[in-house]
Amino acid sequence: MKILLADVKATLELGIKLGQTLAAGSVILLAGDLGAGKTTLVQGIGQGLGIVESIVSPTFTLINEYTEGRIPLYHLDLYRLEPQEVAALNLETYWEGIEIDPGIVAIEWAERMPYLPESYLYLHLTSIQADHRQAEIKQFNYTIPELTGNI
Ligand SMILES: Nc1ncnc2c1ncn2[C@@H]1O[C@H](COP(=O)(O)OP(=O)(O)OP(=O)(O)O)[C@@H](O)[C@H]1O
Ligand SMILES: [Mg+2]
Repeated sequence: MKILLADVKATLELGIKLGQTLAAGSVILLAGDLGAGKTTLVQGIGQGLGIVESIVSPTFTLINEYTEGRIPLYHLDLYRLEPQEVAALNLETYWEGIEIDPGIVAIEWAERMPYLPESYLYLHLTSIQADHRQAEIKQFNYTIPELTGNI
């Protein structure tokens, strides 16, 4: 499924919808070039979850955790890592939610992941023009009812 995001607001609104509806344990893998809008989308997810704190890019911190919303948000950015370094992070801890409180796991630069969860939402953002982005959304063993209608 492809969605045209005509401006920053449209990207934020898609994120808000996801933040309002996704269940704990959901994994969103975000792919796309530098500046494609991955962090912007996660900022929308944060708004949808009711997180007031600003969501900033975890390019240097690797992971930012926000616990004040409806469910926790774990925001990761793998840009600076090699796949073997990603493997050492034991990311499954986040989607299994065994040692952590289950929440939404949003991972930027998911291209760097050497292995993937069993179920996830894949979202590829592409720049079309200065303000236009295209979101290609794929659901792997994962269903969001809203995606069949309202977005
Ligand atoms: N429709 C749009 N959706 C999202 N961002 C847009 C859009 N139009 C323009 N932009 C601009 O593009 C930039 C997107 O930056 P953002 O940090 O979200 O990208 P990113 O994919 O996370 O990049 P990086 O790979 O560096 O982490 C912002 O400056 C934003 O204002
Ligand atoms: Mg980013």
